[in-house]
Amino acid sequence: MYEAESEAQWMRDWAAFLLSYRFALKEVETKLTIINEEFQFMHDSNPIEHIKSRIKSPDSIFDKLKRKGVPVTIQSAYEHIRDIAGVRVICSFATDIFNIYQMLAAQDDVTVLEVKDYVNHPKANGYRSLHMLIEIPVFLTNRVEHVPVEIQIRTIAMDFWASLEHKIFYKFNENVPLQIKEQLKEAAEITSILDERMLSLNEAVNKIRNDEVDRT
Ligand code: GTP
Ligand code: MG
Repeated sequence: MYEAESEAQWMRDWAAFLLSYRFALKEVETKLTIINEEFQFMHDSNPIEHIKSRIKSPDSIFDKLKRKGVPVTIQSAYEHIRDIAGVRVICSFATDIFNIYQMLAAQDDVTVLEVKDYVNHPKANGYRSLHMLIEIPVFLTNRVEHVPVEIQIRTIAMDFWASLEHKIFYKFNENVPLQIKEQLKEAAEITSILDERMLSLNEAVNKIRNDEVDRT
């Protein structure tokens, strides 16, 4: 009886802990929606194609803590796992990535803890994305909590590549054959060229539209 109660308490504590991350995720989603809608209103173009967000499941949190060799406790999860709340922002153009980054970073309640620029500095396997780890305040009934959220910002092409690479990585149980690795790397280079093409195409379209406006 006692054990069941304590197990129930343990689950309640974890649920309460994860609740703050859920709220933080909502805050970040709202911030991104505002950026996107105002940008659309002002400039008649939307920097964000879509947003995906997720809270890490308790099981993945426990697994990650064990992998890291640290205690499986709430305090330890708070300290060691910075991607419990994760948001993925998918943009049309590579330039949008840095616009979104700057608009978020400039907000008073956003503290940028870490930035990893795999766009200008792709990983050896070809992975590209901008990662920012931020902390935002969540105002609860009787306290304020500062909650970390990991944001990955990438183009549609970068996302296409990353999701395929992720699937391949797990299909081969993390031991991807060399020839597949090389093909992935080459595919990453093609996505990079595609991103550049799409950007210059868009610039050409905007230029024609602006010239038309100037003439009227
Ligand atoms: P973890 O959070 O433990 O994964 O490590 P980290 O914080 O040192 O890594 P990083 O910030 O570089 O990457 C965190 C997340 O980015 C991962 O969980 C993935 O979602 C994504 N990511 C990073 N590298 C790759 C990659 O090579 N391929 C793919 N598909 N995704 C990646
Ligand atoms: Mg991480």
